[in-house]
Amino acid sequence: MEDLKRRAEVLMEALPYIRRFWGKKMVIKYGGSAMEDPVMRDEVLRDILLLHLVGVKVVLVHGGGIEINQWMRKLGKEPVFLEGRRITDEESLAIVEMVLAGKTNKDLVARLWKLGGKAVGISGKDGGFLIARRKEGWGEVGEIERVNPHILDVLMEESYIPVISSIAMDEEGRGLNVNADTAAGHIAGTIGAEKLLILSDVPGVLEEEDKEESLLSLIKLGELEGIMGKVSGGMKPKLEACKIALTKGAKSAHIIDGRIPHSLLMEIFTDKGLGTMIIKD
Ligand SMILES: Nc1ncnc2c1ncn2[C@@H]1O[C@H](COP(=O)(O)OP(=O)(O)O)[C@@H](O)[C@H]1O
Ligand SMILES: [Mg+2]
Repeated sequence: MEDLKRRAEVLMEALPYIRRFWGKKMVIKYGGSAMEDPVMRDEVLRDILLLHLVGVKVVLVHGGGIEINQWMRKLGKEPVFLEGRRITDEESLAIVEMVLAGKTNKDLVARLWKLGGKAVGISGKDGGFLIARRKEGWGEVGEIERVNPHILDVLMEESYIPVISSIAMDEEGRGLNVNADTAAGHIAGTIGAEKLLILSDVPGVLEEEDKEESLLSLIKLGELEGIMGKVSGGMKPKLEACKIALTKGAKSAHIIDGRIPHSLLMEIFTDKGLGTMIIKD
């Protein structure tokens, strides 16, 4: 009896957070090593399902870099990156789209289904969701010009979890590759998300990349530009994504460790918070 009571009390501790976030939109970007490991992947998907079932309007944007690289090499192409972003020629774009929108996306939808969730996977081409223009000098890479969120509203209205792969298209309907963090930032900003949550394979933004104890737990929008100059690789598009999200209308952005079990729930349902939070000044 005592044990049951304690369990009920623990559940009750989530009440203020459920009340606060019920009906609010949150964009979760999921990538990195947490997505490669099948156990961790299901842990994260279960957290997402729980969020959805307690009334948070969750949008999942996924990466898939490691799987794309594997398929590129199988097909005889070497992945090329500049400042954490993939340089994409026409053949690479075809592979990126096939793997990301065809395989990774559908795997996630099917995993969610197996865990008891209803999800619908779409890319930025569906419903004219992500419209971009070609980024000069990067090949088939797109810079997002606008987000048409209607398709998200349609899906969320019927209680489907939208699962997004970051392929955009230009005005002529040609496909363009977009970094998943960047896409998540534009989406979160456009829909005025309560939170953009970026799950990666690091504790958060580190002042010195190889020192976990140099974690920056709070960054204000005004400080972001300075910090962006110091980070490298895949962290750059993440910080840019946070900037886009906050500038366009998201309330806060978080970079958290997707390798820690339930890091999402800890961030949202406790007052501790982990990783890096970025807020307007
Ligand atoms: N200052 C920094 N703090 C944290 N991570 C950093 C920093 N600078 C570079 N990084 C790198 O950014 C990587 C995350 O980006 P990325 O590899 O693209 O992951 P994801 O698949 O989640 O997008 C980290 O694994 C880390 O190697
Ligand atoms: Mg990345």
